Amino acid sequence: MALRHFIDIDEFDSKTLCSLIASARDLKAEGKASGNCRVPPSTVLALMFDKPSTRTRVSFDVAMRQLGGETLVLNSGETQLGRGETVADTARVLSRYVDAMMLRTGPHSNMTELAEHAGVPVINGLTERSHPCQVMADVMTFEETKGPITGKTVAWVGDANNVANSWAHAAVKFNFTLRIACPKELSPDPALLEWAKQEGGFVEVTNSPQEAVDGVDAIVTDVWVSMGDDDAEKRMKLLAPYRVDEELMATAAKDAIFMHCLPAHRGDEVTAGVIDGAQSVVFDEAENRLHAQKAILAWCFGLK
Ligand code: CP
Ligand code: NVA
Repeated sequence: MALRHFIDIDEFDSKTLCSLIASARDLKAEGKASGNCRVPPSTVLALMFDKPSTRTRVSFDVAMRQLGGETLVLNSGETQLGRGETVADTARVLSRYVDAMMLRTGPHSNMTELAEHAGVPVINGLTERSHPCQVMADVMTFEETKGPITGKTVAWVGDANNVANSWAHAAVKFNFTLRIACPKELSPDPALLEWAKQEGGFVEVTNSPQEAVDGVDAIVTDVWVSMGDDDAEKRMKLLAPYRVDEELMATAAKDAIFMHCLPAHRGDEVTAGVIDGAQSVVFDEAENRLHAQKAILAWCFGLK
């Protein structure tokens, strides 16, 4: 079997992605024991972090344990990567010890370099470009609450960041409409929009949050200042008109859901009334990281 990396949603065909969501749903129903989906004893997943994490770190750790395996957490500054050893050499060395690697890092090139030189599966736990595991959990959560996502409309309001990019990938692959409302200074990469168009997808961009959310099935947002952003003041000013508040939520469909990958900053990108309100599914999204990643791990190990 060829090595199975999970780097980005846009690299997969729709069928594989849908079967990953179905598998995540099954694993969730099976609970902690994960049914017959077990890795061999002493299978180790390395969790490598150049940036902080709560959900990604804990959900991967617990997912791996529930599959019968073990994890090793490597924080930045604790390996020779911090002293200039290359990502390629790190990939070659770690592949001799562990059975899979998950990396959270800044430059996406670190992720592709790791995957290129690894002899074991590599999983993207967030880069500046994307956050595919998050959006797989988000698609799962959307479908749990609102049925099949195909044909639906989702509005992304705020910074067109890494999570938004993975939402755009998902829109094309799961065949739903994504409307992105953002200030023009924080717009998506034109190459991403061109790719979506070429693929026959529906990814639209506007500067008007009201226009984007009109009648949609879900409103999604994220922090205004992502890890690694060093222009917080500018972003806070630009994004102030993009706060998801009760009035904006009321412009969506009546039964629309509110989504956020967390961590959230109440009063900035979203009001407490919305994120803690009845339409919010943010903690289901957080829980589903565990189930979606269990499915991704099972696929990487060839169990599914
Ligand atoms: N949503 C998410 O990836 O959270 P963490 O940064 O806590 O991992
Ligand atoms: N866009 C955020 C997501 C955090 C999970 C960041 O990159 O910091």
